[in-house]
Amino acid sequence: MIKEQKTEVAIIVVVDENNGIGKDGDLLCHLPNDLKHFKKLTTGHTIIMGRKTYESLPNGALPNRINIVITSDNANNYPGCIVVRSIDEAFLLIKDKEKVFIIGGGKIYDSTLHLTNKLYLTRIHHIFEEADTFFPKIDFNNWELIVEEKHKADEKNQFDYSFITFIKKE
Ligand SMILES: NC(=O)c1ccc[n+]([C@@H]2O[C@H](COP(=O)([O-])OP(=O)(O)OC[C@H]3O[C@@H](n4cnc5c(N)ncnc54)[C@H](OP(=O)(O)O)[C@@H]3O)[C@@H](O)[C@H]2O)c1
Repeated sequence: MIKEQKTEVAIIVVVDENNGIGKDGDLLCHLPNDLKHFKKLTTGHTIIMGRKTYESLPNGALPNRINIVITSDNANNYPGCIVVRSIDEAFLLIKDKEKVFIIGGGKIYDSTLHLTNKLYLTRIHHIFEEADTFFPKIDFNNWELIVEEKHKADEKNQFDYSFITFIKKE
């Protein structure tokens, strides 16, 4: 029997060894291979982000994706985005069988980790002492590891890193 496709709500995040995700409104480092990985996974799908993460995007809304921004701010300040006031409002927009990615930042991850069924985690094998924003603590009893792909630093990617995928246990 073909398994029925269901709506997938995934978190996608890059974390350091301390679960650090950002500093001063920006990412902890520039890892081009992770940006490619992010683009490949999210293109063609819906992404949900907090206002501060939107503000960190150098060119505004990400192309070829439905961009949803959560903020109490004026909707006109987010060209190319659907603007909502709450996580609940964002989730009401998700259509059946759609693939949705929650792309941060810390506040949004905190409020949605329990609502997601997949976790695409890029682990940078380094600690950034200057991190000021963190991913919530993950209870690995609730998640099953399905992919782990290790990569060494190279001339373009300064740190060792791993692409790790988990699915929420039933
Ligand atoms: N490493 C990664 O993968 C990754 C990914 C994304 C972001 N980041 C980093 O994370 C940092 C930003 O994270 P952050 O936690 O400061 O901000 P954020 O989660 O991106 O945005 C926070 C804002 O979103 C709105 N918001 C958040 N939760 C809400 C809720 N439950 N209901 C209604 N509105 C809500 C509020 O906007 P208003 O104040 O406008 O109401 C809030 O101030 C940056 O350093 C960024 O570079 C890292």
